[in-house]
Amino acid sequence: MDHTASIRLDEKEFSLPVMVGTEGEKAVDTRKLRVDTGYICYDQGYGNTGSCTSGITYLDGDNGILRHRGIPIEQLAESSDFVETAYLVIYGELPNAAKRKEFGMKLRQNAAIEMQMQRIFEGYPRDAPPMAMLSSIVASLAAHYPDLATNSFERDLANFDLAAAMAISKVRTIAAMIYRYQKGLPYVFPKQDLPFCDNFLHMMFSEPYQDYVAVPEVARALNLLLLLHVDHEQNCSTSTVRTVGSSASNLFTSISAGICALSGPLHGGANVSVMQMLHAIHAEGDDGTRFIAAAKLGSKDSRLMGFGHPVYRNFDPRAKIIGKACESVLQKLGIKDPLLDIAKRLEEAALKDDYFLSRKLYPNVDFYSGIIMRALGIPTSMFTVIFAIGRTPGWIANWHEVAATPKGRIYRPRQVYIGPVKRDYVPIVQRV
Ligand code: ACO
Repeated sequence: MDHTASIRLDEKEFSLPVMVGTEGEKAVDTRKLRVDTGYICYDQGYGNTGSCTSGITYLDGDNGILRHRGIPIEQLAESSDFVETAYLVIYGELPNAAKRKEFGMKLRQNAAIEMQMQRIFEGYPRDAPPMAMLSSIVASLAAHYPDLATNSFERDLANFDLAAAMAISKVRTIAAMIYRYQKGLPYVFPKQDLPFCDNFLHMMFSEPYQDYVAVPEVARALNLLLLLHVDHEQNCSTSTVRTVGSSASNLFTSISAGICALSGPLHGGANVSVMQMLHAIHAEGDDGTRFIAAAKLGSKDSRLMGFGHPVYRNFDPRAKIIGKACESVLQKLGIKDPLLDIAKRLEEAALKDDYFLSRKLYPNVDFYSGIIMRALGIPTSMFTVIFAIGRTPGWIANWHEVAATPKGRIYRPRQVYIGPVKRDYVPIVQRV
C-alpha cells in the first residue's frame, strides 16, 4: 500500500504521509500541510479530525463496535465490573488479584471528603445545578491536594496512581453529598467495607440509624451503568479533558473541565432530556406520535432525545445492552414503569420511520439509562452526575496518555477567520 496521499493546491502537488491504526483505521497526516502549503484543514467540530493517537478505546461507529484496550464492551458488560474495567482502561490490562486488591484499597482509603472541603457545599444554593456543583468541587481537589496537582507533567505523573484513585473515589462521594445537600439531609460517610457501588448507594440513601443495604440487583444495575460509560473515545468531554490536560493542567482541574462539557444536553445531559420527553409524552397521554412528528421538522430544539449519535451510524452497542438490562432490572425489582412502555413504543415507531432510518438515527446509551436510574431511586437531576462518575476513569486514562506522551504538543487548533478585514478605529462616542 502507498503510504502517502497527494494533494494538489495552487497548481502544485504535495504529498502527505498516511497513518494506519492497529484496527486498520486510515488517516492522512496533515501536520505539515500549513508549513508546506499555507493551507490548513477545515473541519468544523473536528468531526473528521484525529486529534491524537490513542491506545485506550476502539470505536467503529459504522459497525457498532466498542472495545476498551481491545476487549469488546459486550464481554466487559457480561463478565467484568466497573472497578475492574476502570483499572483496565487506565492501566491497559485487567488487574491480577493483587493489583485488584491494591486498587480497591486505594479507592476505599480515598473515599472520604475532609471537613474543610465539606464546607464548600454550604456556599451553594440548595437548588444549584448538580453538575455545576460537581465540576467546581472536583476542581477544588486541586486546591486541597496541591502535592498531587502541581501542574507539572513530571510531578503529577509521579503521583498519578494516588490522584487517579482519589478522583474516581471522591467524584462518587461528592456526587452523593450533592444529592444529600440538595435534599437538606445530613451527609452519610463512606464505609470501608462496602464495594464501590454499594458504598455509593449507602451514601445516597442511608437514613440516620438505618443503613441502606442495596439488593444485589440494584448494585449490579448501577455497576453496569457505570461500566458502560467508562470511556468512549474522543467524545466532547474527553477531548475537553485532553485539551485542558495538554497545557499541563493537573488531573483534577482537567476532569472538572470534562464535567462541564458533559453537562450539556447534547452530551451527558441527554439522559435528563430523555426523561423530560418521556414524562411529557406520558402527561399528554400521547403515544409518541406527536413527538416523532415534531422531531422530523429538523429543529434542534425538538429532536427525539436519546436518538442519534455523532459517531454511531448503525447502532450504539451500549444501547443494546442497556435496553435489555432495563427490562430485566425492572422485572427483577417488580417495577412497572409506564415510561418504559412509552420508550419501547417510541423506539419501535422511530425504527420504522424513513426519517430516522435514512439518517441512521438509532437509540443511544441515554435512551434507556434514565429508566434504570429511576428504578434505582436516583432522581433525574442526578442522572448526568452518575454519567460523570462512570466516565471519570476514561478521562483519567486520556489525561494520562496526554501527560505521558513524550514531546506532546498543546492542543491548539486553527480557524478560518471570517470577520471584518482590517479597518481603522473610528470612535462613535466622543470622549470628553
Ligand atoms: N431527532 C431528530 N432528528 C435528528 C436527531 C434526533 N435525535 N439527531 C439528528 N437528527 C437529524 C438532524 O436534524 C439532521 O437532519 P438533516 O440531515 O435533515 O439536517 C441529521 O439527523 C443529522 O444530524 P446531525 O446534527 O448531523 O447529527 P450529529 O451527528 O451532529 O448529532 C447528536 C449527533 C448531537 C447526538 C444528535 O443526534 C442529537 O441531538 N441527538 C439527541 C440528543 C442526544 O441523544 N444526545 C446524546 C448523544 S450521546 C453523547 O453523549 C454525544
